[in-house]
Amino acid sequence: MKTKAAVLYQLGEPLEIEEVELQSPKSGEVLVKVAGAGVCHSDLSVIEGVIPYPLPGVLGHEGAGVVEALGPGVTRLQAGDHVIFSFIPSCGECFYCRRGKPNLCDTALRLGGNLYDGTSRLSNSKGETLNHFSATSCFAEYTVVPQQGAIKVGPDAPLDKLALIGCCVTTGVGAAINTAKVEPGSSVAIFGCGGVGLSVIQGAAISGAQPVIAIDLIEERLALAKELGATHTINASKDDAIRGIRDLTEGRGVDYAFEAIGREETFSQAYRSIHWGGTCVMVGVPSTEARPTFDSRLVMQERTIMGSLYGSSNPHVDFLKLTQLYEAGKLKLDEMVTRTRPLEQINAALDDLRAGLGARTVITFD
Ligand code: CU
Repeated sequence: MKTKAAVLYQLGEPLEIEEVELQSPKSGEVLVKVAGAGVCHSDLSVIEGVIPYPLPGVLGHEGAGVVEALGPGVTRLQAGDHVIFSFIPSCGECFYCRRGKPNLCDTALRLGGNLYDGTSRLSNSKGETLNHFSATSCFAEYTVVPQQGAIKVGPDAPLDKLALIGCCVTTGVGAAINTAKVEPGSSVAIFGCGGVGLSVIQGAAISGAQPVIAIDLIEERLALAKELGATHTINASKDDAIRGIRDLTEGRGVDYAFEAIGREETFSQAYRSIHWGGTCVMVGVPSTEARPTFDSRLVMQERTIMGSLYGSSNPHVDFLKLTQLYEAGKLKLDEMVTRTRPLEQINAALDDLRAGLGARTVITFD
């Protein structure tokens, strides 16, 4: 079939909106009509070459939609099911899956631009093969994904909001709840209030943390951080973040600091903002060349540094829990969607992201 999709041909170039050829789902795959696709910083990182990925390809890895057709052998899904995409479609059988770490699934993380059988379902009008991005490629009206990457949720919640659970919400809420296991009453600082940082704030708030200190350079994002559960905000373009954090924690620093940007400087700030015995969690994806530094206080002050990928989540369990938290009013998704745009405006949405405007743009389809 033909479907409209946003294709990246060259690093640093705008995405091309074009009709591409999408083959029918093969064994173990499903065809999904995309309802909403969040425009995430990782898409931008691929465009800018920070996250290496084979080109040309169809981007988009944070989305939700409705199952349209099943490939042979698909048993766990039916046409009409509402699904959220998991951009790490864990195989369930590899070393990490067997150890209960599906977010590190060997098989899924080695797919490159292909699906599970090592081939692509996507090509352009010239017959050139296009890569799938994270086996998701949801910057398109329709996409074919492995059944492991289409997680069924209930039929009631709006899919253009649930799309956010596919990446930023699971990454951020999971970093607080699954990776760091923030306890009630613990003090938390979050560096960076984009989609992931705002989700860490929500995870910390859901965990009962106090205070929850949000740090960003943009006032509008700090206002949103407060709406989503931050108790205090620091605008680091005006005030010193570390001093501000110490002032709020009896001069000691926080129990947990989260870096949600992926920059060396903010990582070392986050590291410096924890007290003895504190934990610094890196959630933002740094470039492969980045060498974040920390000092030797690691030992004498028993500090902990953690990395968190996809919120240490098991999407098959966590997507449902997060959907239920949203339905119960405890997880805020509507507030995180700053605006929606049609696929034709995807480059404008990426420009907004570059400029740090708003929290999330969701691409919607009729
Ligand atoms: Cu993402």
